[in-house]
Formats: sequence, C-alpha cells, structure tokens
Amino acid sequence: MKHRALIFLLAVFMLSMAASSLAQEKSLASTPPMGWNSWNKFACNVSEDLIRQIADAMVASGLKDAGYQYIVIDDCWQVERDGRGNIVADPKRFPSGMKALADYVHANGLKFGLYSDTGTKTCQGRPGSRGYEFQDARQYAAWGVDYLKYDWCSTSTQDAPSSYALMRAALDASGRAIVFSICEWGNSKPWLWGRSAGNLWRTTGDITDKWEGKVKWPDGNCCAYGMTDILDMQVGLESFAGPGHWNDPDMLEVGNGGMTTAEYRAHFSLWAILAAPLIAGNDLRDMKPEIREILANKEVIAVDQDPLGNQGRRVRKNGNLEVWSKPMQDGNRAVVLLNRGTEDAEITVAWEDVGYPAHLEARVRDLWQAKHLGKFTGKFSATVAPHSVVMVTVKP
Ligand code: GLA
Repeated sequence: MKHRALIFLLAVFMLSMAASSLAQEKSLASTPPMGWNSWNKFACNVSEDLIRQIADAMVASGLKDAGYQYIVIDDCWQVERDGRGNIVADPKRFPSGMKALADYVHANGLKFGLYSDTGTKTCQGRPGSRGYEFQDARQYAAWGVDYLKYDWCSTSTQDAPSSYALMRAALDASGRAIVFSICEWGNSKPWLWGRSAGNLWRTTGDITDKWEGKVKWPDGNCCAYGMTDILDMQVGLESFAGPGHWNDPDMLEVGNGGMTTAEYRAHFSLWAILAAPLIAGNDLRDMKPEIREILANKEVIAVDQDPLGNQGRRVRKNGNLEVWSKPMQDGNRAVVLLNRGTEDAEITVAWEDVGYPAHLEARVRDLWQAKHLGKFTGKFSATVAPHSVVMVTVKP
C-alpha cells in the first residue's frame, strides 16, 4: 500500500514537472520573437551609444508599439576573459558596462539580448562559451539579459544537440527566463531536436541582402543566401514550428539597401506567413518612411504573431508563380501570392488549395493596401508585379 502511494506521488510530481516545463515553453516566445539585431547592418561596429540610440529609435519610430521587443547585440561585444574566467565586454565600446546598457534598454520598455558561441571562439574570433557555459549564463542573468543567440563557430567535433542542451541547462540554472536562439545554420537538422533546448533555431546559413542567389564568403567557403533561396529551404519544415519553438530563416534585411521596396515588402510578407521571428536588421535611426511602413504594418505582423503558431506553407507553385497559405486561429487564411518572375502575372488562389470547399463565399482583404476587396466564391486572383507579392486574408 505504501508502495502504491509512493508511486502515485511520484507520478503526480512528474506530471506537474512536465506541465510546468510546458507552461514555461508556452510563455517564453509563445509567438515568434520580434526585435532588432546588430549584425546585418553593423557587423562588428557595435557600441553602447549605438544600442542606446537604437533603443530610442525603436520607441520613437513606433516599432515598439508594433510589437518589436528584443534589442540584441550580435558578435564582437566581448573581448576577453578576466583572471577568473568572467567574460569581459569591450571597455572602449561599452564603457558603462552591460548591466547599465541592459537597464537602459529595460527602461525603454524593451528587452535586452546578447550573442555568444557554443565553441571556443565566436565567428569573429572573440571568446566563445565552451567550458564557461554556467559561468556565462550566470553573468548574463546578473546583467539582465533576456535573449541569447548562440552560434556554432569553432566547435571542432562538438555534438550540436548536447552542446545546446548544456547551455539550456546553464540558462535554466541561472534562474532568469532567457529566450534561447539556436544558431547552428541547420547543419544537424535542429528542427528535430531544437525544441527541447531552445525557442528558435536557424534553419539555414546566413541571409544576404538580395532577392536571390548564393554569395561565397571572402574565404571562398559557401555561402550566404538570397532571400528567396532561404525561403525555398523552409519547405518541409512547417510541422516543427509552434508556440515556444520556431524555425528561424534568419534576420530581416528590410531597409538595408540591397533590394527594392517591393522586394522588401515580399521578404516581410513571406517571413510573416512562415511565422518566422521578425528581427529587424537595419538602422532604425535612419529609416525611409516606406521602410518603416513595411516593418510596422500591423496587419502583416498579426499574421506572423497569430496565436495558433502555424507556419504557413507553399500550396501551389507554377514556375515563378507561387501561393503560400497560413491557417489562422480564427479559421481564416493568410495568403501570399508571390511573383518571382520579371513580368506582371496573374496569380490565383483556389479555396481548395487552402483547405476550404470551392462553393464557399469569403471576404478578401488586401493587407498592404489595407482594403477590403469584396466577396469571392471558389477563388481569388490578382495581378502581381515582378518580384512582388499580394498579401490577403481570406475570411469565410
Ligand atoms: C554567424 C551567424 C550570423 C552572425 C555572425 C557573427 O555567421 O550565422 O548570424 O551572428 O556569425 O559573427
């Protein structure tokens, strides 16, 4: 009898542990994280002045109100370890220290993120966290870090799942809720194991600020990828994403100058339909109005942030013409009509392609024009300009 009671108590304990870790997963990154990261625009040129100005601009531009939250310093903030093994921020670029900077970001109502690396060195040769996982996590928590991007350079023969699990354990032990962004470029299929370690995982190598095509790195290694190349690599990964655990097709290039405004609108629409993290990568202090309007489009952001957390998928491809669809919590569909070609083209979404019966009448709203287009039965067609999208919601 005693034995049975013990087993019962143990079962209750295990169930409550499982429930609490699920609850934790739900509350952290329950929708795809939104924020800003320094890498795409500034690379190693980071400093506390820049980060403060970006935090100010995030508020002043209205992006905070639109849902952007995390300000993340990527590589190069760190220079060495001190005699006790503590990671040291660059004293010239961050003279007030990381705690003061995190406080500044928090005082703006925003959250603060840092970058480190699973291996001995970061991708820019700064000290990595290998062997210092618990010490670093404790330090981040003491500084007030809310988000950690954790890269995969200088990892030699390290095993990815166990290396990321180790930092996960260290973050848990730190006692602070820290969003954990796995950045191992999709090498070891992180969609299969990333959920138990992190909240998001990069699915590919780095994005580069162009519509399509691969670019070799200066050292001759392959490659950074154009926006549509990255898009293609998301096909098949849809079922691995959901609240608390997201596929990450890399940060946004919107506003960095390598694509047209229409192309950036397409980039943003496609990331939204993918339920991708929306991490701006441009200079928020100096945005053209049309770029601000893309990043701040509340209807498109609402598609990305839909609480159901369903990653959209490509439901039709006919050469350069594609239809992408995302089921939303309210039963509606978000749809992107994508023209990858160089001439205007008519693209049709048939209700049956998005899981609705053909006889259904539905209202269609254009999200970039912010306009109701009327009621349609069976399908909706639009003329889509080259390298552009039309993005709509379909509401039965
Ligand atoms: C890797 C990552 C990038 C960026 C750089 C920094 O390439 O994939 O996102 O963090 O390192 O060095």
